[in-house]
Amino acid sequence: MSQQQAQRVVAIYPGSFDPITYGHLDLIRRSSGLFDRLIVSILRNEAKQPLFSLEERTDMLREVATGFPNVEVDSFDGLLVDYARRRGAKVVLRGIRAVSDYEYELQMTHMNRRLNPQIETVFLMANDAYSFISSKLVKEVFRLGGDISELVPPAVLDRMLGMAAHRVSDSR
Ligand code: PNS
Repeated sequence: MSQQQAQRVVAIYPGSFDPITYGHLDLIRRSSGLFDRLIVSILRNEAKQPLFSLEERTDMLREVATGFPNVEVDSFDGLLVDYARRRGAKVVLRGIRAVSDYEYELQMTHMNRRLNPQIETVFLMANDAYSFISSKLVKEVFRLGGDISELVPPAVLDRMLGMAAHRVSDSR
């Protein structure tokens, strides 16, 4: 392995991304400049009932990540640290929006460190313009008829509008 290859830093940005928001996208944009390779990876969680299927979430992420040549979209199940090791990643990237995120992230970080001390979790603070956005709230606001066009990329908005239109036509 050349010295250049040995120094390449691969980071995993894991999450549910149901759906991807402008907050996630901002983190992808900023971290793609910090690491040689960024793997945005969707947790395949059978226990959760997502709004979007894994395939839909993958498609939307790929669509919004096209502008970033060092960003790859993937999915995983099982332990995050095992997946990171398989993918040759030394870093797990997470975003923190507010103090309320901190406790959950702290627990995960310590657990992951205990499972594999060689993998570091790196946090980026969310841009203040996006610090109030969560996938959960986006879905709720949309379901109740609110405008989410400034919260999610067009690839997501179009799909959500399409879903809603489908539901209306089904109920006629
Ligand atoms: O977007 P989310 O739901 O906050 O992401 C949570 C995620 C996917 C990062 C977390 O649930 C995860 O890493 N799951 C994989 C299972 C695992 O490794 N658990 C033990 C360490 S906490």
